[in-house]
Amino acid sequence: MYGDIFEEEMGRDTVFRDASKLMPEYVPQVLVHRDEEFRQLTRFFKPVLENRASQRVLVTGSVGVGKTALTRRFGAELEKAASARRMSLSYLHINCRKDRTIYSVISKILQHFNPRWPYHGLGPEKLLNDVVTYLNTRDAYLTVALDEIDFFVQQNGPNLIYSLTRTAEESGGPNRISIIAIARDKSFLRSLDAATQSTFMHNVISLDRYSASQLRDILASRVNEAFKPGVVEEDTIDLIADIASRWGDARFALELLWRAGMAADAENVRAVTPEHARKAKAEVYPEIKRETLQDLQLHEKLVLLAVARKLVLSQRAYAFTGDVERTYRVVCEEFHEEARKHTQFWEYLQRLGALGLVDIKPSGVGQRGQSLKIGIQEVPAEWLEKEIEKLIRGRKN
Ligand SMILES: Nc1ncnc2c1ncn2[C@@H]1O[C@H](COP(=O)(O)OP(=O)(O)OP(=O)(O)O)[C@@H](O)[C@H]1O
Ligand SMILES: [Mg+2]
Repeated sequence: MYGDIFEEEMGRDTVFRDASKLMPEYVPQVLVHRDEEFRQLTRFFKPVLENRASQRVLVTGSVGVGKTALTRRFGAELEKAASARRMSLSYLHINCRKDRTIYSVISKILQHFNPRWPYHGLGPEKLLNDVVTYLNTRDAYLTVALDEIDFFVQQNGPNLIYSLTRTAEESGGPNRISIIAIARDKSFLRSLDAATQSTFMHNVISLDRYSASQLRDILASRVNEAFKPGVVEEDTIDLIADIASRWGDARFALELLWRAGMAADAENVRAVTPEHARKAKAEVYPEIKRETLQDLQLHEKLVLLAVARKLVLSQRAYAFTGDVERTYRVVCEEFHEEARKHTQFWEYLQRLGALGLVDIKPSGVGQRGQSLKIGIQEVPAEWLEKEIEKLIRGRKN
């Protein structure tokens, strides 16, 4: 009897069939309107399968245009195609904004092959050599996607890509490591050496922003997976596609759809209407990616919270770094964290700047010495303050 009640309740009050299908980490089976780009990737990798050559490809495009999803889907197909050809090739997708040091990226590669590989205390060059030896002795191949590599290069310089390409080349045998670099645009290539730069330059796949009608198709294909039949109105999809087309961003479109569904559930109604989409729009800012906030280290979050609070309190466009640092100390106390030293604070701030979460500007003449001023341009500071607080609380519990 209770089983029935349980099921009845579980089935009630939601427009969703499976909301996880709307989450950014879900990789759809089909990438709508990206057939040509998929084909291009396949063409670039033909020599890898046919001649056991290595390849380097760069995938570019602005936020939410499907770079990650397309590359992941391609990686899965590549593995299948290789195994059908009796070639041992594995695909590994690394997010370089999360794995933020050369060491951590290379350990990811090692652990992909053997989770118990003893790597602690060894330098990255040695570790990479081990990977190459491993591949050589097993006649195996690796295609590694370096996602969000632009942030990584900005912070760590070009050494990772350089080592990955050189170590494999210098091992004597065939180069067994192929690279798919993923970035917003090509500008990070400038810090690479000329040879590496040019190999990537010749193999660029650039994804355009989606038009409203493309977004409509993407949304429509996801609606069936995520929602119960017939609950999402046509008009709602059209409206969301139109809103998101200003950015051409499919992530934003899908998040609006998800939130519109949540709004319908909150009202206990069985239809997701345009009004729900409008409500959703008021809660989301496409300028800041949720994952970017989530993946910040605790003290980076605390510094960002300090910036947001200072700006909310002062109601000014910018805050001086000295004031932000003082607020940071107060924030640390509130969360029972020991505040980091000035140089560390400074590094956190720089990283937030590199991620585009804050703007850092010289404070101008007549202001306190070398001080800089910090601002938030893209979203309301108050919204950011709330989001970060939620994240810190969630993590501390
Ligand atoms: N053509 C498509 N068909 C179906 N879903 C798509 C398509 N393009 C993107 N998506 C979905 O939109 C969301 C964002 O895509 P993705 O994460 O690949 O964007 P991105 O280009 O990597 O963005 P970022 O630069 O922010 O990392 C994901 O949920 C993805 O599944
Ligand atoms: Mg991505």
